[in-house]
Amino acid sequence: MSPSTLDAALAWQWIRQVREQDWHTQATLTLHSQACALRVQRGGAWQAEGDVTVEASALLDILLPCCATPDGFVIGQLGQSLDGRIATVSGASHYVTGEASRVHLHRLRALVDAVVIGAGTACADDPRLSVRHIPGYNPVRVILDPNGRVPATQGVFQNAEAPTLHITRHPLPREALGSHVDTCVVEDDAELTPAALRSTLLARGLRRVLVEGGGQTVSRFLADGELDRLHVVVAPLLIGSGRPAVSLAEIETLDTALRPPCRTFAMGDDTLFDLALRSVDAA
Ligand SMILES: NC(=O)c1ccc[n+]([C@@H]2O[C@H](COP(=O)([O-])OP(=O)(O)OC[C@H]3O[C@@H](n4cnc5c(N)ncnc54)[C@H](OP(=O)(O)O)[C@@H]3O)[C@@H](O)[C@H]2O)c1
Repeated sequence: MSPSTLDAALAWQWIRQVREQDWHTQATLTLHSQACALRVQRGGAWQAEGDVTVEASALLDILLPCCATPDGFVIGQLGQSLDGRIATVSGASHYVTGEASRVHLHRLRALVDAVVIGAGTACADDPRLSVRHIPGYNPVRVILDPNGRVPATQGVFQNAEAPTLHITRHPLPREALGSHVDTCVVEDDAELTPAALRSTLLARGLRRVLVEGGGQTVSRFLADGELDRLHVVVAPLLIGSGRPAVSLAEIETLDTALRPPCRTFAMGDDTLFDLALRSVDAA
């Protein structure tokens, strides 16, 4: 490979730099290596000088719209079967999607300030929610657990791999939790809407948010118009029954179905559907 080639490793390094740019004050950013250059516009459009590998080109296409944003963003992500399931009825979800899609999920984690999961996922998967497949920092882990049903013994409350925020009406005893855990107590009569959650996270400086599941949690953000993008990774398997991916209120006819602008990308044997639910003004 010639030294002027923009490959996946350099693309990832530059994507992380794009994330650090203040997109309020600047509308473009140009990055240079020895013999190639990348120009990125607010909103994520890009042009390169020099050779770009197919893998690097896909990374830039998929991830720059999530980084070149002035006000942060909220992205949802679900890995589902062809028949729209994210887990079996008993909650087994390891693994619906393949290795390449899991690397993609780790890239999304590395680009956000906070990764949000619902109580169902915290109980069923006991996930680490850290960045392990690629170079990058761990985001703050946010557990939406209004009814206090996630046990203190779960890994997110015990391993200090990343700071963790427990959002609940029923705080766990302080002595049962690691010192990396912060609790946000929700008042009994306060509604935990996605908009209110976003404000809570913004107040803590968490502007870039990945809603990683499960289906109910992502669906609530989608229904309330609180997602900027949704990444649905579809894997070529049929589960036949199980936990649904997106579920929204019933509609009578297809005229009112959501049809956001969509791009597709091959991800190993899986296919990523990148849905743009809100656009960023490039000017
Ligand atoms: N394939 C994938 O991509 C993927 C990703 C993640 C998880 N999963 C699988 O999905 C399953 C869990 O998904 P799920 O849809 O059943 O549950 P979930 O979305 O993980 O959790 C739903 C629960 O979280 C709480 N919650 C979430 N958003 C809230 C909000 N805005 N306001 C108040 N409470 C909120 C509620 O808890 P309460 O019920 O206590 O009120 C709600 O019932 C697991 O089996 C997991 O393995 C798969």
